[in-house]
Amino acid sequence: MKRKNIQAKMWITMTGVLTVLLIVFGSCAENQKIAAKSGAQLWAENCQRCHNTPSPASFSHSQWVTIGMHMQTRAQLTDKERDKIVAFLQQ
Ligand code: HEC
Repeated sequence: MKRKNIQAKMWITMTGVLTVLLIVFGSCAENQKIAAKSGAQLWAENCQRCHNTPSPASFSHSQWVTIGMHMQTRAQLTDKERDKIVAFLQQ
């Protein structure tokens, strides 16, 4: 009986550790996926869901920064993603 309890506890601990590892490595893979994407790619994937994408030449550098902040909340982007998109649009 006692032995079974210890085995059960070990099993629970092991599953807990595995779950944490999965979460950690899972989010790493997610970050790498974002890191691998170019600003142009992120722009194409995120900025035409709601409207046609205005061409990069439509706005000035500082206007793109403001638009980037505004649209970041709408598109639910991370700061990194937004920075890449804005840098692409400023080219
Ligand atoms: C969830 C929907 C949504 C997403 C995603 C979205 N936008 Fe918008 N966008 C809007 C709406 C709504 C407006 C008009 C109202 C406003 O300015 O908030 C707009 C307006 C704009 C304008 C016009 C601003 C002006 O003053 O004429 C630009 C430029 C723009 N978006 C760029 C982007 C870029 C770049 C992205 C990607 C990072 C993006 N949008 C993603 C909804 C979205």
